[in-house]
Amino acid sequence: MSLSRRPRRLRTTPAMRRLVREVRPHAAQLVLPLFVHEDLDAPRPITSLPGVEQLPLSGVRAAVEAAAEAGIGGVMLFAIPSVRDAEGSAACESDGILNLAIAEAVAAAGDQVVVMADLCLDEFTDHGHCGVLDARGNVHNDATVLVYQRMALAQARAGAHVLGLSGMMDGQVAAIRDALDEEGFESVSLLAYAAKYASAFYGPFREAVDSQLQGDRRTYQMDPANRREGALEAALDEAEGADIVMVKPALPYLDVVADVAAQSSVPVAAYHVSGEYAQIEAAAANGWIDRRASHLEALTSMVRAGADIVVTYAALDLAAWLKEDA
Ligand code: PBG
Repeated sequence: MSLSRRPRRLRTTPAMRRLVREVRPHAAQLVLPLFVHEDLDAPRPITSLPGVEQLPLSGVRAAVEAAAEAGIGGVMLFAIPSVRDAEGSAACESDGILNLAIAEAVAAAGDQVVVMADLCLDEFTDHGHCGVLDARGNVHNDATVLVYQRMALAQARAGAHVLGLSGMMDGQVAAIRDALDEEGFESVSLLAYAAKYASAFYGPFREAVDSQLQGDRRTYQMDPANRREGALEAALDEAEGADIVMVKPALPYLDVVADVAAQSSVPVAAYHVSGEYAQIEAAAANGWIDRRASHLEALTSMVRAGADIVVTYAALDLAAWLKEDA
């Protein structure tokens, strides 16, 4: 055949493929979620997230040091408090478990690892919703944002470098930015979970945080059917002052990742969530797919779609594999 284009020419050898590769994921763009449980004094495995554990506070230091050793860019802290109430009070207390964990992590991180904290009430409320409820049991947007402002200040005082705003309340980014700036925390960055969908893929996370949620989050998290709205949410958050915008989950929403990357002038993150991780783990455990290759392909796909930062439970393994392949 007389073909002017033979794309296979650039696939002939490993050296050629390496030369022309369009994206090169790096450990520095990975963020590892960590779960800290107030009632534990030894790590406890999370059944539905193989390889991931709930840590006692005393385990935070070693976990952050391991992340630094692996060359990972950051850690994202989640915490499970002993006591939950309707307002999620423990989230705002300086000796609340998340704020103690932040201080531990920051001390261990030095300038090697960026310490991010989840800013949301679902781990702290007895009803498991991401905010406070009105008389009819609906999550009250503006009252919740007031609590988020106090939670943000507690996290900033504990030393967090980045606050991960995952509650999906309207106006939360601007309100938290204002509260921080007023107290002199203008250097604390905001990672907005800008396009966060009401997803079935958060299943294992509910085990990871001992969630007590009944029902769903569809009055505040987004409808999986909506692509344009993902771009809108990201644009609003950027306009409100988000330093980084995130799309979550990741692989089922790569169209949204690509849209947000195309329109944003701030870094874009993608969260490869618990159910996405568990899918790979479960299939690999059955011998149905190759674990290493699948995790690396998932990461490559998120970066190819436009993610600058990837939050993933496989961050430590990925960092090691990327180093081997380099
Ligand atoms: C809310 C939050 C959730 C996740 C991250 N932050 C749970 C939810 O919105 O229901 C899920 C992450 C995952 O599934 O890995 N604090």
